[in-house]
Amino acid sequence: MKPSFWNRCWERNSLGFHQETVHPFLEQFLLPRLTATTQHVFVPLCGKSLDMVWFAQRMKVSGAELSEIACRDFFQDKELTYQQEQRDGFNVFSYQNIQLWQGDFFKLLPATIENIDWVYDRAAIIALPESMQQQYVEHLSTFISDKTSLFLISIEFPQEELEGPPFSISSLKITKLFADFDVNCIAEHELADKKFAQRTFNVSRLVERLYLIKKKQQ
Ligand SMILES: C[S@@+](CC[C@H](N)C(=O)[O-])C[C@H]1O[C@@H](n2cnc3c(N)ncnc32)[C@H](O)[C@@H]1O
Repeated sequence: MKPSFWNRCWERNSLGFHQETVHPFLEQFLLPRLTATTQHVFVPLCGKSLDMVWFAQRMKVSGAELSEIACRDFFQDKELTYQQEQRDGFNVFSYQNIQLWQGDFFKLLPATIENIDWVYDRAAIIALPESMQQQYVEHLSTFISDKTSLFLISIEFPQEELEGPPFSISSLKITKLFADFDVNCIAEHELADKKFAQRTFNVSRLVERLYLIKKKQQ
């Protein structure tokens, strides 16, 4: 999708993907996996996700987001007085242990976001058309070290029944995209009400999956 598509969504407050509560997978599946040494999560294509608040209660959060409105609203909705500065061609919004890098994720250099323990992808890869997904994985890989784990939440549905975004991704496709990684699907459930955040999809089947992904050890 072109940046103008997403900027329009934010300008029109057309945010069907935005969840009003923290994703339940975090308490259920991520919390038991956090260790005392977990210090930093990176959230690509972060929007103004409340999941970042959950993370910020436990570790440093770095987000990457195209929209200035999203970054501003993330803090303003919580009445937090943020700082703003220009760094490495990005507009950086920060408050305590949260930093949101506003600009194009594909232009963000890995050296700017170092020592990442977790990457959290909820509705990031599925926001991109198939033609951009491999490029996303390749760029994301540059931020990932041997100690980084990726927690990825995606959905699958018959793509011909709904024009994206979001874009459906099967488990096979995730495995192919992350060919240099060990991919484990640790949760899968059918969303009988066909609800995805604030939207209800007119599709015959909607499945949400959670993957735990780590670089293959050499
Ligand atoms: C479907 S939303 C998901 C947001 C968030 N992950 C959530 O769960 O609410 C996708 C987000 O990616 C942002 N985005 C799209 N392309 C981007 C890019 N190239 N760089 C940074 N952010 C981007 C959009 O502005 C939008 O906020």
